[in-house]
Amino acid sequence: MTDTRPVLVSGVKPTGDLHIGNYFGAMRQFVELTKEGKYRPFIFIADYHALNTMQNAEEMKRRTRELVMAYLAIGLDPEQVVFFKQSDVPAHTELCWIFDTITTMPYLMRAHAFKDAEAKNKEIGVGTFNYPLLMAADILLYDAAVVPVGSDQKQHIEIARDTAEKFNRIYKADIFKLPEPYIMPEVSTVPGTDGQKMSKSYGNVIPLFASRDELTKAVMGIVTDSSGERPENVYAMHKLVRSETELKAIYKEHAGKYKILKELLIEDLDLYLSPIRAKYEELKNDSSIVDGILAKGKIEARAVSEAKMEHVRRSVGVS
Ligand code: ADP
Ligand code: TRP
Repeated sequence: MTDTRPVLVSGVKPTGDLHIGNYFGAMRQFVELTKEGKYRPFIFIADYHALNTMQNAEEMKRRTRELVMAYLAIGLDPEQVVFFKQSDVPAHTELCWIFDTITTMPYLMRAHAFKDAEAKNKEIGVGTFNYPLLMAADILLYDAAVVPVGSDQKQHIEIARDTAEKFNRIYKADIFKLPEPYIMPEVSTVPGTDGQKMSKSYGNVIPLFASRDELTKAVMGIVTDSSGERPENVYAMHKLVRSETELKAIYKEHAGKYKILKELLIEDLDLYLSPIRAKYEELKNDSSIVDGILAKGKIEARAVSEAKMEHVRRSVGVS
C-alpha cells in the first residue's frame, strides 16, 4: 500500500557534544513529532553540511555515529522513520548542482548566513555560500510538506520554496512541491550551571549522556544565589525532570539547604537520564545495530530520491 501521509523532512548536523539543553529544548520535541503518525518522516544526518566546518575524518565518523545513537537512545523509531546519512544518498548533491545552475549569486547573497559572514569580514567558503541550495535539495527530493526546524532556519525553507518554484517555471513542469516550515515551539531556555543559557560555548553544560559521577560534579558546581528563598538555578533545572507541585513541597521542606537540594536534583536527573544512557551504551556496544539502521535508511531514501531524480533529469534533458 502506498503511504499517502504528508512527508516530513529534517536534517541534523553532527556537530557539537549534546547537552540536556539540546534535549529538552529541541531533540525531544522533534522525536515526538515523528511519533504522531500524522507524517511520513525522513530524518537524516546532514554530514555534507557539517563538512563546511568539520574537516577531520575521525571526528566526522565519530560524531555521526554518536548522533545516530543519541536519536535512537531518546526514542526515534527506525521502523517509523526513514533514518539515513545525507552522504549515503547521492541525489542530494546531484540535485544541488542542478539548483546551482538556476540560481544567481545576488539571490544567495541575501541569505542571513552569508550576510553574517560578510559582516564579520570572513571569507566565506563556497560550500557555506551554497548551503541553502543543498538544503533545498534535501527537502525537495522527498516532496516534503513540512520541515521542522528552529526559527533560525526559516529563511532556508523560503529559499527551498523559491527554488522549487523557479525550477517548475523554467522547465514548465510540476516537479517540486512547495514545503512549509514547521517552526518548533520555543521552549523556555534551559539554564546552564552558571545560570546563563546552557550552551556548549559557555562551558556550563550537563552532558546528555553524563555518568552519575559527571552529573554529581556538574550539579555540585551549580552557582547558587543566596539572596532568594530557593536556589533558582537548581530549581530551574529540577523542574525539567519533576513536577512543580512536588518540587514546591520539597524546596519548602529543605529551604536553605542547598547541598540537600542539589543531591535531590542529582538523584532525579540520574533517574530521568539513566534509561537514555543505558540505551546509548547498548548501541555503543553493538555497532551492528547502527550500521543496520543506516543501511536500511539508505536503501529507502535512495529509492524515493532516485525516482524523483529520474523526473528531474528528464525535465532538464539529460536522461
Ligand atoms: P549550543 O548553544 O550548545 O551551541 P546549539 O546551538 O547546537 O547548542 O543548539 C541545538 C539546538 O538545541 C537548537 O535547536 C537550540 O534551540 C537547542 N538548545 C540549545 N541550547 C538550549 C538551551 N539552553 N535551552 C533550550 N534549547 C536549547
Ligand atoms: N541547516 C539545518 C541546521 O543547521 C540542518 C539541515 C540540513 C536541515 N538540511 C536540512 C534541516 C533539511 C531541515 C531540512 O539545523
